[in-house]
Amino acid sequence: MIHLSDRVQAMQPSATFAIKAKAAALRAEGHDVVDLSAGEPDGSPPVEAPAAARAAIDAGRNRYAPVAGIPELRDAIAANYRARGVDVGRDNVLVTVGGKQALHHLALALLGPGDEVVLFSPYWVSYVPQFELAGATPVVVRTRPEDGFQPDLADVAAAITDRTRVILVNSPSNPTGCVISRDRLAALNDLAREHDLIVISDEIYDNLTYDGTEAVCFPTLSDDAPQRTVIVNAISKTYAMTGWRVGWMVGPVAIVKACAKLQGHSTSGVSPVNQLAALGAVTAPRDFLVPIKAALLKRRALLSSGLNAIDGFDVGPIPQGAFYLFPRVDGFFGRTTPDGTTIQTAFDVANYLIEQGVGVVPGEAFGEPQCVRISYALARETLEKGLEKLRAAVSLLS
Ligand SMILES: Cc1ncc(COP(=O)(O)O)c(C=O)c1O
Repeated sequence: MIHLSDRVQAMQPSATFAIKAKAAALRAEGHDVVDLSAGEPDGSPPVEAPAAARAAIDAGRNRYAPVAGIPELRDAIAANYRARGVDVGRDNVLVTVGGKQALHHLALALLGPGDEVVLFSPYWVSYVPQFELAGATPVVVRTRPEDGFQPDLADVAAAITDRTRVILVNSPSNPTGCVISRDRLAALNDLAREHDLIVISDEIYDNLTYDGTEAVCFPTLSDDAPQRTVIVNAISKTYAMTGWRVGWMVGPVAIVKACAKLQGHSTSGVSPVNQLAALGAVTAPRDFLVPIKAALLKRRALLSSGLNAIDGFDVGPIPQGAFYLFPRVDGFFGRTTPDGTTIQTAFDVANYLIEQGVGVVPGEAFGEPQCVRISYALARETLEKGLEKLRAAVSLLS
């Protein structure tokens, strides 16, 4: 008999990948499915990235790269942060297999049994499983749709105990698109100083903000913030390169070294071809983002007005970052589907919608059972078709 570890048995599969797989399976059976659950941009990377990868293949970059990342890429990442006012160099940078692996390393390097980590719900799907794998206790502070999901500082202060080691901040947020204001980030930085906590700042959507809103780079909040802050980022969202699996952490050398040790015994680091593609991306001229952001703004307007016009969805304050809407769907609770099922949860809403040919992610996956996540990083026609299907699905409810 196969015995699986308690740790893996306790873990749920990633809900976002599960919806994507379900949508693909329904499509393979011939159903017409519009998948609005995607966690990735639909555009193309800057041309410099694939060109650099092709050159790397032609140059025979077939061998292991240095575990911590190729020096040119670590330098380029550090230079980009220096340009934003963070005083870092190569030794502060570890290149990882996507932002996800940086977070996983940090959980293992900073936390163990008995340690607590404060994070905000709604949260990205992998934080809690990763902290639990490390044996740590996630302490979730709820943020609310009516506050635009900005954290309440009194709630954060109340969640900190003498076992708290880490605060995790994700701004702009997946799934809400909330960009935490500078004032609130500064107050979180003060709390971290007061309680001697490490801040993990997941800034993977930092280039995707709108309406003049700035995504504050956490270590720029005070002169001492870099001593206790680790930034996590990746080429995945900014450069539309989710599949290349290149990310990084930037933080204190002792933490970077500890995580490099973990990397040396797990993946041995990232393929040199992919790292050189990442180098092409992070050194490309920034203007490639202008049309992407303009298109995302139009799509956000289309999706938010379309959803608000459907009785049952409530988008609330329009989010200023990332490419998701996280509308409330509790307006559907108590309604009945054509097969006689009463909708009671966001999970029921998502389940009904996928049966009707639209993929959305239930809020339960993010710790918020009143909402669903819908992506607008999709072509206009896809969003229009998705809205049409949503209207049709909702019209069948009684
Ligand atoms: C908030 C957040 N952090 C981290 C990640 C992981 O990024 P990557 O695909 O680079 O591993 C994602 C991906 O969806 C994300 O949304």
